[in-house]
Amino acid sequence: MLELKWSHIPEVGSEDLMAEGSMWRGIIHAYRPFLRVASIDPITLHEGNTPLVPALRLAQAIGFPGSLYLKYEGLNPTGSFKDRGMTTALTQAVAEGAQAVICASTGNTAASAAAYAARAGLRAIVLVPAGKIALGKLVAAMAYGATVLAVEGNFDAALALVRRAVEVYPIALVNSLNPYRLEGQQTAAFEICDQLGRAPDWLAIPVGNAGNITAYWKGFRAYHQAGRIAALPRLLGVQAEGAAPLVRGHPIDQPETVATAIRIGRPARGAEAAQAVRESGGRFLAVSDEEILEAWRMLAALEGLFVEPASAAAVAGLRRALAEGLIPRREELQVVAVLTGHGLKDPEVALRILPAPARVPADWEAFRRTLEPLLERPPEPRAETEAPLPRPSVP
Ligand SMILES: Cc1ncc(COP(=O)(O)O)c(C=O)c1O
Repeated sequence: MLELKWSHIPEVGSEDLMAEGSMWRGIIHAYRPFLRVASIDPITLHEGNTPLVPALRLAQAIGFPGSLYLKYEGLNPTGSFKDRGMTTALTQAVAEGAQAVICASTGNTAASAAAYAARAGLRAIVLVPAGKIALGKLVAAMAYGATVLAVEGNFDAALALVRRAVEVYPIALVNSLNPYRLEGQQTAAFEICDQLGRAPDWLAIPVGNAGNITAYWKGFRAYHQAGRIAALPRLLGVQAEGAAPLVRGHPIDQPETVATAIRIGRPARGAEAAQAVRESGGRFLAVSDEEILEAWRMLAALEGLFVEPASAAAVAGLRRALAEGLIPRREELQVVAVLTGHGLKDPEVALRILPAPARVPADWEAFRRTLEPLLERPPEPRAETEAPLPRPSVP
């Protein structure tokens, strides 16, 4: 029999834990002095404060001798980084008296807008490309009570409709064209610097509509100006080969990729993102769907991090940048890859490419015949320790 070894079970819900000062209350509360947003009580689901996970086994597998960290944004309340921008966008919308919000979305914005609108008691109308949205995102947006409209066209067409609607009707637009989205999303850059005690040397991030990379750059610059970090990172913006307008230098009319979240041919924040990447001394790279899915497998199998395909693009891009010598294989380098969304968002892609579980009869002898060969195979070696986080060294 297994025995419980603890003689003392710690108290849950102790006063300390619940005390005002120690409870995480979302990014507006944590970073208010850096954020331009109405000073009403925030519409929040206590988003942010996501882990920055060292990735030793992955670094080894891609031949990177430096320190690799993964910012796991899939652990936000609706499963993606969008919640950081939605708390600020909805807080501002409420302060300005909005009754309804609207967005076009490849899925994550829809789910996040729907959740925060529900929290605020506002109506949410979300437009998604028909048949091109991952199941977990669609279901979530519907569950949060949004009106979901499936547009017979791609994301770019849906965004054009939404932009027109807000010119005619008093509805708040909550796509990343809304500046309050970027205000909130820059807090991921603040957190990375706070967690590392400095800015990374490189930040690898997937790029679709280009709002997030623009927000990160804004955040790094704000922290630099405030003296919180001594140097700025280089940005590695990663697009899918079939949807890579910022790599090709022109819009893509029929964007296509397995990573539906970044299946965008006309990025609304493209010009700003291009400027950010240029200013940082970084680069845009395109990776194939095969590279994305390979990185997706590696993240799950080597690090226990299940992400949606768009997030794996960041790691695929990093791998490509190392292979091309764009990022040197040097021990002293610190690199962060942003894992933008949770794997449970897109179970269909996972089911399509993973082998189905083997069936086993409910019979001891048959089960034993299946089990024993599995135990003969030596387990993969485990990484000895996690890389220690460097001490904060900057004021
Ligand atoms: C999971 C995920 N990753 C990356 C992106 C790309 O972000 P952006 O459109 O701000 O470039 C999105 C956008 O929808 C997303 O949902």
